Amino acid sequence: MELTEEIKRLCQKKKAIILVHNYQPGEIQDIADFVGDSLELSRKAAETKAEIIIFCGVRFMAETAKILSPDRTVLLPDPEANCPLADMITSEGLKSLKAEHPDALVVSYVNTSAEVKAESDYCCTSANGIKVIDSLPTDRKIIFTPDSNLGRYLIEKTGKDLILWDGYCYVHHQRITLEGVRRAKSLHPEAKILVHPECLMEVIESADAVLSTKGMCEYVKREVADEFIIGTELGIIHRLSKENPTKRFYPVSEEAICESMKLTTLEKLERSLREEIHKIELDPQIVAQARSAIERMLAI
Ligand code: 13P
Ligand code: SF4
Repeated sequence: MELTEEIKRLCQKKKAIILVHNYQPGEIQDIADFVGDSLELSRKAAETKAEIIIFCGVRFMAETAKILSPDRTVLLPDPEANCPLADMITSEGLKSLKAEHPDALVVSYVNTSAEVKAESDYCCTSANGIKVIDSLPTDRKIIFTPDSNLGRYLIEKTGKDLILWDGYCYVHHQRITLEGVRRAKSLHPEAKILVHPECLMEVIESADAVLSTKGMCEYVKREVADEFIIGTELGIIHRLSKENPTKRFYPVSEEAICESMKLTTLEKLERSLREEIHKIELDPQIVAQARSAIERMLAI
């Protein structure tokens, strides 16, 4: 309790805002000024007047906040909180793929480093991927990086033939399986199945809805159903249960845990804010180039 009070006091004194992703531990979500998915968090970062943004999530999310608010201090409470999916592509790798397809447009999932975004024409998130791809001219080739599962889902939904990078998220690709969905459904036959588009196609095909984390929160609120099978990272169940106390949530797998997301603690948050450590620092040239890709996405 004391730690929570101290964080709130520091936020007020330093004009700081706490932005928190839906996968963060419950006690971090509970102290947030705003909890959301990647798209909402980037919008919040773009519009905030706060002097410090303390970003509880993973590095690419904090970098996106810095790209959109370069004059603000952006802190990542644990500097080791990297997204393994984002680390599956480097700007060098993307440059080689671009060299093979010089006339292609490049759409990068927001789960990429600032350097990869700087090599991209557009960004997208799981919430707006279909819209972004649909908005592109039909006569241009499109490279999509780095998540191949989201890429295949976008091909299916938009009918466009994307050139894919071979990346994946270990939480969604390896720990959320069709077998897990079937097991959960046999135990809870009335439950609606919600999955994230980073899951394998066979998992996606078994679902009632394929949604970003924000999409799942909205779906659960408006549906009359009482039970839901959740095919994404476990952290979201804290928020779903808090906002819908009469509804029941069953994870596809108890092992669907993103270790990087769980590195944030109240202690690290307090220290990072007090000492203003673990600042996101980016090359201004990279910021300018990456910003265009994010702004093109936000404009769609
Ligand atoms: P959302 O944008 O749906 O919150 O997803 C982010 C993410 O990292 C999924 O693994
Ligand atoms: Fe990255 Fe997967 Fe963790 Fe999301 S859940 S932050 S994609 S490793």
